[in-house]
Amino acid sequence: MEFSYEYFKTSADYVKSIVPYEPEIGIILGSGLGNFANEIENPIIIDYKDIPNFLVSTVDSHAGKLIFGKLEGKSVVCMAGRFHFYEGYDYEQLVIPIRLFKLIGVKKTILTNAAGAVNTDYNVGDIMIVKDHIKLNGASPLCGKNIDEFGPRFFDVTDMYTKSLREIALRCADGCGLNVHEGVYMFFTGPQFETPAEIRAARILGADAVGMSTVTEALTAAHCSMPLLALSVMTNMAAGVLDCKLSDEEVGIAAAKIADKFADFVKKIICNI
Ligand code: HPA
Repeated sequence: MEFSYEYFKTSADYVKSIVPYEPEIGIILGSGLGNFANEIENPIIIDYKDIPNFLVSTVDSHAGKLIFGKLEGKSVVCMAGRFHFYEGYDYEQLVIPIRLFKLIGVKKTILTNAAGAVNTDYNVGDIMIVKDHIKLNGASPLCGKNIDEFGPRFFDVTDMYTKSLREIALRCADGCGLNVHEGVYMFFTGPQFETPAEIRAARILGADAVGMSTVTEALTAAHCSMPLLALSVMTNMAAGVLDCKLSDEEVGIAAAKIADKFADFVKKIICNI
C-alpha cells in the first residue's frame, strides 16, 4: 500500500474534531505498562477502531485506546497499546501512530517497552534509557515513496534518542527507587523470543537489551524531527542468560511489579521536560 500525506491527515482531522487542544507530549506504552494511562486527568478517550486510517491492536495486554488529558500539568496523549511487526503489519504501516502524533501537534514523544536484558549487569526490574539502537533485520518503516511534508528521503539518526531528554531522564532517576541505566536496544521481529545464540550475538554487537517494538516508531519520529525518549523495562533476562524458559506471563508479572514506580518515574520526566 502506498501512503499519501492525505491518508495521515484524515486520521488527524478526525482526532482534532474531538480533542480541542494540541497535546504537547505523546506517550506510547509497552506491554504491561498500560495502567499508567489511568492517571491521566480529564481524559478524552478515543478507540483506535473509530479513527479512520488507523490500525487496531491485536495483543491482549494492549488496550487499543488513545487517551488525551493532563499529566503533571502538561497536556498529553497516551497510546495504550501499540502495533508491532509480528502482528502482521507491514513495516510501512508502523509509521501511522507517530505521524498522527505529529499532525495533532505533539512536540515530544516518549516510548516505553518491555525488554529482555542482554547486559548481565542488568537485573529484572531495571530501566534502560535507550541511547541508541541496532536494527539489522526487517525493512525500514520509511521505505516506499517519501512524504516530504514529514521529512527528507535520507535522514540523519545520529542523535535520534534526543540527548537533552536522556539527560533529563537520568536526573529524574535519582530517588525514584529504580536502577536506571543508559544502553543500546536491539530490535528483533518476534513473536518468538530470541534464541540464546541470537542473544550472544546481540551482546557481541553491543546490545544491552532486546525487544520487538519501539525502533519503528523511533525511526518515524526521527524522520519528522520529533524529539524522542525511549525507556525499556527489563522484564526478564534475555534467552540463555539464566537456565530457564521465557514466557509472556513472566514479562507481564515483572512489568506489573514495577508499574507504580515506573509510572512515577515517567511522571517526573514529564514534569521536567
Ligand atoms: N525479547 C524480546 N522482546 C521482549 C523480551 C525479550 O526477552 N522481553 C520482553 N520483550
